[in-house]
Amino acid sequence: CGFENPPDFRICGKCGEHLEGSKALPAYAKRAPRDYTPPFLVKKVLNSRHSIEGERKLVTVLFADVVNFTGISEKLDPEDVHDIMDGCFEILGREIHGAGGTINQYTGDGVMALFGAPVALEDHAERACYAALRVHESLERYRLRLKNQYSIDFRMRMGINTGLVVVGAIGDNLRLDYTAVGDTTNLAARLQALAKPGQILVSERVYRSAKGRFKFQKLGYIKVKGKEQGILAYVLKGYHTKPSYKEVHLKKIPFINRQKELNQLENAFDTSKKGIPFMVVLTGEAGIGKTRLIEVFIDKVKPQGIRTFWGTCSPLGLATTLHPIIDMIYDYFGLSAQGGDSVYTRAIVPHLDDRALYPKVKALFQLLEEIRLSDEKAQQSSFGNKREIFRTIRDLIITATSDHPLLAVIDNVQWMDTTSIEFIEYLFESLDDIPIMVICAGRTRPSQWGELANKVEMCLKPLNREDSKELLDSVIGTRLLDQQISHKIISNSGGNPLFLIEIGNTLITRGLIECDETKCIVTVPLEKIAIPD
Ligand SMILES: Nc1ncnc2c1ncn2[C@@H]1O[C@H](COP(=O)(O)OP(=O)(O)OP(=O)(O)O)[C@@H](O)[C@H]1O
Ligand SMILES: [Mg+2]
Repeated sequence: CGFENPPDFRICGKCGEHLEGSKALPAYAKRAPRDYTPPFLVKKVLNSRHSIEGERKLVTVLFADVVNFTGISEKLDPEDVHDIMDGCFEILGREIHGAGGTINQYTGDGVMALFGAPVALEDHAERACYAALRVHESLERYRLRLKNQYSIDFRMRMGINTGLVVVGAIGDNLRLDYTAVGDTTNLAARLQALAKPGQILVSERVYRSAKGRFKFQKLGYIKVKGKEQGILAYVLKGYHTKPSYKEVHLKKIPFINRQKELNQLENAFDTSKKGIPFMVVLTGEAGIGKTRLIEVFIDKVKPQGIRTFWGTCSPLGLATTLHPIIDMIYDYFGLSAQGGDSVYTRAIVPHLDDRALYPKVKALFQLLEEIRLSDEKAQQSSFGNKREIFRTIRDLIITATSDHPLLAVIDNVQWMDTTSIEFIEYLFESLDDIPIMVICAGRTRPSQWGELANKVEMCLKPLNREDSKELLDSVIGTRLLDQQISHKIISNSGGNPLFLIEIGNTLITRGLIECDETKCIVTVPLEKIAIPD
């Protein structure tokens, strides 16, 4: 494509083609994406390909590469190198596909993966970060094995960037042709090349999209061809721990309206209290207020003496079997990550009247702990006796809450793993005459749940102008904001509460509002204020 690549690039940073003069590619690197993409993704790509060909898409690109691959290849037999790389690609494939990305290309000793195309994902940057961390975690075990077996130090480096690409043709073999707009892929490759062994470097854009869920360390400016100033880079360090309910709750601004939705939830809850298990599926775009609505609803019905379980799915748990269900149970019993027998006894036994459940629950907790710590274990154990596990979890939930109506919340179901979805189905099929309501909230819903009998679907819509104004006023702490300005902010926000809060906070924290007795104005043109993506 004529792009001038830095000397250490083996594939073009602009178009992804292998560069002339780069090492002959081993056979595994020549496979087409269709050969290594899991069937469910193949179907998704083929179904959507014609609709996205020619489109400009915002995507996140991840490059992963083995450190000192040449040195390793020289030291070992080609067959051993082949086996080692096979194991490595298996890990990369599992984690990247598990997070919803696709591997577009093997680079000989690594991969280039795309998140957000050809499969559309709105949280592509977070997913790429998640995949990268998971790859490192899995590689850590693999690395120890290879150290013992071959006395080599096997590590990868990764680079992640978000930017635009124009999607070209998507072949039957699933290879996606694309043209990067600006330096989308080039910068990801550059970051990868600069990363230290075991390090994940990301661009500022990735940092901004993913900082809510991941920890980063600012690295500073790195030199990139064609950019005078250099590019701000960050090191991806790990996951944020989930903030507690209380922490989140403290800094909330007053809740606005949503009366109709609260009534709907209350009606459903009244039905469930009569012993008719009820499911509410709550959907709506990011930041529209799903989580907050449920919190407010819980506060409202709490005085009735209910028991609540709250489980959160996250992209971090996407590939972990039963993640939100385990989260829900741990949350209810106040268990920490380090369980152990004594914790189990202290936390759970007082909740169980039915002594017959003790040994079963104890076994269940050991299993859940194993699942939490290792996916491989989950794959082996949870499928052998899944029904037994489901039954024990159900019995645990019911027994622990036998004398109270029960409200179970599963939030962020767009990231729910398939076993958890099955569990919820099982729970509904197998419950009778139990006062339980389950609220499943997410940006999208799992498609399976069409069949459930007592189910209501709610889609949370944007706030209207009046409510948006009230929210904005309450964030900036005055009702005197100039009408034209508030009009413009509200129009831009599309009635999304998160957006209104972010923009209001930006105005306040940067001191951009000036007031006299009658009116407040914003001192810079609104276009100049960075608006979150
Ligand atoms: N009706 C409301 N009144 C006041 N604040 C609100 C309202 N709805 C939402 N918010 C606030 O807006 C922000 C985003 O809401 P929330 O986290 O509930 O969104 P969400 O739909 O759960 O988004 P996501 O899909 O990202 O989880 C929060 O700070 C929340 O407190
Ligand atoms: Mg939410």
